[in-house]
Amino acid sequence: MPLVLVTGGTGHLGRDLVSRLVQAGHHVRILARRPQPESDVECALGDLATGEGLGEALDGVHTVINAATYSPIARRGSVKPLDFVKSPTAVDVDGTERLLAFSGAAGVQHFLHVSIVGLEDASLPYARVKLAGEQLVRRSGLPWSVIRAMPFHYLLEKMLSNLSWLPVWPVPNAMFNPVDTSDVADYLVRCAFDGGRGTRAEIGGPDDLSLAAIAREFLRARGMHRLVLPMPLSRKAARGMGFVVSDGVRGTRSWIDWLNRSQNADSAMAGT
Ligand SMILES: NC(=O)c1ccc[n+]([C@@H]2O[C@H](COP(=O)([O-])OP(=O)(O)OC[C@H]3O[C@@H](n4cnc5c(N)ncnc54)[C@H](OP(=O)(O)O)[C@@H]3O)[C@@H](O)[C@H]2O)c1
Repeated sequence: MPLVLVTGGTGHLGRDLVSRLVQAGHHVRILARRPQPESDVECALGDLATGEGLGEALDGVHTVINAATYSPIARRGSVKPLDFVKSPTAVDVDGTERLLAFSGAAGVQHFLHVSIVGLEDASLPYARVKLAGEQLVRRSGLPWSVIRAMPFHYLLEKMLSNLSWLPVWPVPNAMFNPVDTSDVADYLVRCAFDGGRGTRAEIGGPDDLSLAAIAREFLRARGMHRLVLPMPLSRKAARGMGFVVSDGVRGTRSWIDWLNRSQNADSAMAGT
């Protein structure tokens, strides 16, 4: 089995991806900043922001799946004023450039890069950082695939949870189809080994939902009562904020399904 290196293998998408690759019998190595507990996968210690360990991590690698990122918004699950001004580039731009250079030197046969739907129209600095990373991949001399996904359920849940203190939730009147990391992981595994290259069909969740419906379903699942106020928003402004409906592949796990399952998991944890 050719060796697959997953960057970001400790992250939300990366964990799902690694477990699927292992289940499918692939030989997997992750690039991680810290030692990981014993598992079925090899762990190469390294850091995209400094380049440390990348040469060793890529030794003998056939396919790279770059699922690492550093998004302050996703880390904290909320947006601060500074996020409208700048976003760090050390991982998503400089780190991608380093990873591409080491991948070229190691003779990597397929470099898959995970990105986000609608980057051209999105105005947040993080979107510009992701776009710059994508462009490096597209311009590299390597055989590449760029796979864009809609925002993940876990992130939406984290951001809505952080609004809990507000009695009234003004939400933009826009449509959206968030996706689950499990569906994106399945799709990435297919794209890695289907022989295709280049810009792949983007992936989103199964349902087109208004943001008000998304917020109301969250409140219902959590047993919370808040007033959801849909706010008018032009199509251009909505796209600028990343609120789009994706074309292409659709995942199977819905927002409601995901909310119910994560609620059940929380209840089971509380009962243990
Ligand atoms: N979140 C979304 O809604 C969304 C939507 C569409 C596409 N995407 C894309 O999907 C990919 C995965 O996103 P995610 O939400 O699963 O990310 P995540 O949970 O925040 O995980 C990020 C991963 O990147 C690693 N990382 C961060 N800095 C690093 C560094 N200096 N060197 C090496 N690794 C580093 C992290 O390692 P540590 O464990 O050491 O921190 C972690 O494994 C990213 O490309 C993201 O842009 C995300």
